[in-house]
Amino acid sequence: METTFVMIKPDAVSRGLENEILRRIEASGLRVVEKRKLRLSREQAGRLYESHRGKDFFEKLINFTTSGEVEVMKVVGENAIRRMRELIGPTDPVKAPKGTIRGDYGTSGTENAIHAADSPESAERELSIFF
Ligand code: CDP
Ligand code: MG
Repeated sequence: METTFVMIKPDAVSRGLENEILRRIEASGLRVVEKRKLRLSREQAGRLYESHRGKDFFEKLINFTTSGEVEVMKVVGENAIRRMRELIGPTDPVKAPKGTIRGDYGTSGTENAIHAADSPESAERELSIFF
């Protein structure tokens, strides 16, 4: 069993997509064992996206992820990290296939509906920010 960190971003929460996204995660066989809705502080957003500090899109990303409520969650299952990354699809919604969460609900390279940790190390680090 593996545990990963997932966050529904403000663009998706503001459109009321949380339940549909949670349904897709659970329908895939993964389990959401904890979840919390909150507004990220700039400090929390900066910690979550620490590896992107200094990149040209960093400020835009922090402004976006602190612009409204998000839903953070702990997701558990066999190969949960890889399976969540497959469910969300590639970063850019234009390149994300239909049927993936970003392909169906993302609207731009920044406003792409959902985050999921990309490695066991990131999952542990990101979970520790919120749980
Ligand atoms: O989220 P993911 O791991 O797929 O992509 P990332 O490269 O780790 O980037 C983190 C987040 O930054 C993305 O999900 C986008 O919201 C945002 N981003 C952006 O606004 N512009 C880019 N050129 C790349 C990423
Ligand atoms: Mg990433």
